[in-house]
Formats: sequence, C-alpha cells, structure tokens
Amino acid sequence: MSNNLRDPKMERITTKELADQFIDEQIKEIRKQVGNKKVLLALSGGVDSSVVAALLIKAIGNNLTCVHVNHGLLRKGEPEQVIKVFKEELGANLIYVDAVDRFLDALAGVEDPERKRKIIGKIFIDVFVEEARKLDDIEFLAQGTIYPDILESNGIKSHHNVGGLPDDLKFELVEPVKFLYKDEVRVVGEALGLPHNMVYRQPFPGPGLGVRCPGAITRDRLEVVRESDAILREEFALNGLEGKVWQYFTVVPPFKSTGIKDNQRTFEYMVVLRAVNSIDATKATVEEIPYPLLFKIRDRILNEVKGVNRVLVDISDKPVATIEWE
Ligand code: XMP
Repeated sequence: MSNNLRDPKMERITTKELADQFIDEQIKEIRKQVGNKKVLLALSGGVDSSVVAALLIKAIGNNLTCVHVNHGLLRKGEPEQVIKVFKEELGANLIYVDAVDRFLDALAGVEDPERKRKIIGKIFIDVFVEEARKLDDIEFLAQGTIYPDILESNGIKSHHNVGGLPDDLKFELVEPVKFLYKDEVRVVGEALGLPHNMVYRQPFPGPGLGVRCPGAITRDRLEVVRESDAILREEFALNGLEGKVWQYFTVVPPFKSTGIKDNQRTFEYMVVLRAVNSIDATKATVEEIPYPLLFKIRDRILNEVKGVNRVLVDISDKPVATIEWE
C-alpha cells in the first residue's frame, strides 16, 4: 500500500514549470519501467486517458498502442477529435474500433439502468480484449488512474474501464498520473499541448449518453440526445459558461407529447436541459441559466433537431435528485 500513497512532500502541480518538470520525470520513469517493450491503452478521449496517452507517446512513441472504442454513446464530434489529436497530430499508433452496432444491438429493449451499465461495461471489455489479442508482444497496460481513484477504490477504475481482463492478458500496469489530483492532471495536459477543451472538459460518465437516454435506448432518441447536447454545449461555450458550469447536458425521456407544426399535430420527443454546479458530485445545485439564453437554446433545438416539439429545464438539486437521470 505504501507505494500507493502520494508522498506528502510532493508539491501540488499548479504551474507550467511544475508540469514540465513532472513530464520530464515521468518520461524517465516510463522508459525505465517499460524499456523497449510494448504498452496498450484504452483511450476514451477523457482527460485522464488522454494525458496518459500524450505522456506515453512522448516517452515511447509507437511502442504505445491506443485503442479507442466507439460504443455509440459518445458525444457529437468525440471520436473524430480523438482521431484528429492522437493519430493525426501526435502520430499515435491508434486503433479505432467502430463497435456502435454491437453496443446498440445488445442494449436494444433493455430498460433497467444497472443492466444497461453492465452490458456497456462487459461489451467494452470484450471489444478491448479482442483487440488486445490481435496484437503481439504487449507486456504493459497503461491506465489513467488518478489519486482519487486510488483513495476511493484501491486503484482500479471501476467504470468504463478494463479492470477485469482475462488471465492470459494480465499485463503489468503503467499508471503515470496515479498520484495526481484532477486539477493537476489538467495542468499537465495543457503543458503536453492537448487541446484546452479536451483537458478542461466537464465530467462525462463512462456509459456516456446511454444514461441520458433513460429506459430502453433507441437510435432515433439517442440521436436527439446527441444533437441537442451539441447545441447546448455550443451555446454554453459561446456565452462564457463552458468551464464555469460544472456539468451540463440534455436528457430525452422515452415518451412523446403532442405539439403543432405547420397546422399539423405532431407527436414527438421532448428535450430536458440540465446544468449543475458541484465540487465532487456528491451534492449539486442547479445553475441559473438566463432566460434569453434558454430561449436561444430552445429555438435552436426546436429548429435544428429532428423529432422534437418541446424543451424543458430540470431545476432539481442533488439531493433530492441525482445529477444524471439514471
Ligand atoms: P449522479 O447521477 O449519481 O452522478 O448524481 C454523479 C456524477 O457521476 C457521473 N456518473 C457516472 N460516471 N459512470 C461514470 O463514469 C457511471 O455509471 C456514472 N453515473 C453517473 C455523473 O455524470 C456525475 O458527474
């Protein structure tokens, strides 16, 4: 356990200089640990795995193989950004797996939130294991474990992860940011040159948009979640709320309501807007979005997203509500 605790003398990484120093040290550490052996990493595009990927690319270049699994529940533009940043700009050895149909077919008709999570987690591991087995000579598995993960769960990330690999794939772990807090990971990410919106992005659950499409996920409703979320994020960014509000997203309940368009009655989905502030997700309060901005977002969603005739705002704090809807 002792090598799983942060040295109390370790300075908090708050500046570019300290981050650069950390990066230099970690590059040496990584090279010492893995030598010229090969390392595998599940790269979700989240802050932690992205920073680990960028560090390892600096340390060992193409001896790192990144696997990015598109489970169909990512936000608009995410898989494209992962490919652009890591493959095109950083020259990573990146395997992109389009597993959208596999996930969505397995989730079809499944209403129970915990079963949905289990299916997503299981297929994620299955897909990752299949990719790992296709590769020769991998000896190490890199993980974006951060210090709060260690404090909370003894080290292995419990969600959207590769915790339960089969025996023939027991790799030694490489965890270069395991003693860092989230804010430090972000400072290191910026020092590594990762895009600001990737490093400072809001928390995003492992099961992705799947928990914002409550009940049985359908492809049409998932598309409404994805498109409305993209509009909400764009408007928050344009209006200075990105980086200020802790978490914001849309939810589309699994039922329709009546509306009217061009003198015809419609029967379509509703989009719920949710924006909350929190420190550690145990409690959250609702962000007061100014009405003019709400109206702008409403108009854009009603005009630009097919199959929607109503926009609502969730004004519930946590507790009594949770942040996500399921
Ligand atoms: P709740 O909904 O419990 O969410 O108030 C608290 C925080 O956790 C995120 N969340 C998850 N993250 N896997 C994750 O990785 C999950 O299954 C999951 N469920 C909720 C949520 O987005 C919020 O930031």
